[in-house]
Amino acid sequence: MKKGFLATLLIGAGIIACQPASQVAKEESKKTVVTEQAKSKRPSKEEKFLRALEAQDKWQQACSNPIQLAPEGIDVAQFLKEMQATIKYPADGKLVGDWKKGESLALLPEEYKALYGQKGGSRKGNCYACHCGDPRIIACGNIGPSLRGYGNKGMDPKLTYEKIYNPWSKNPCSTMFRFGYHGLLSPEEIAHIVAYLHDPESPINK
Ligand code: HEC
Repeated sequence: MKKGFLATLLIGAGIIACQPASQVAKEESKKTVVTEQAKSKRPSKEEKFLRALEAQDKWQQACSNPIQLAPEGIDVAQFLKEMQATIKYPADGKLVGDWKKGESLALLPEEYKALYGQKGGSRKGNCYACHCGDPRIIACGNIGPSLRGYGNKGMDPKLTYEKIYNPWSKNPCSTMFRFGYHGLLSPEEIAHIVAYLHDPESPINK
């Protein structure tokens, strides 16, 4: 039953990715329904699924913690030190940019269109492939922990910046892309994504 539903979601995500505008509109109205249901007391099937996905079970949690998977004999302290040394910061020193620009970098064009009915998004971040966060996006991944409410956890934005620039500076062998290290995102772009995660107005924290 659950499996079937997951397949539907995955196929759904595929459909959003390659369907003409009318189909996208259909998917959009489905999402609106999900949002409306989220407001009512009894959680919908999709809501229940999202909650189950967001709460990583202990095995997923263990597998998302690559320190435990670091190759034997590795000097973890040295590894982290060398990765930390690769991090470059924005020229103006601002580590927290504009959350709306960050949102657009984090979302795929299909996701952005489904949420806002207009052009936006990029192929650079793809955060929802591995994370949940904005509760309106139900086709999200749980390889990484949910980012929902991330800004309310008292995390230092500098650490968030460094995590996105080079996840291996915090966690050796993490499966998360090393966005800054590999030049997938510029320092300024990373600062916008930091704002997307920390700003109280961002859908991540609403
Ligand atoms: C290929 C999968 C993948 C992608 C894509 C990805 N992440 Fe991650 N992320 C992970 C994993 C796995 C972890 C947990 C292990 C770790 O901390 O490295 C993680 C951890 C994090 C953390 C730390 C969370 C915490 O509570 O400590 C943040 C913040 C984060 N990711 C943000 C992002 C953002 C923002 C994006 C998009 C720009 C992104 N990730 C894209 C896999 C991914």
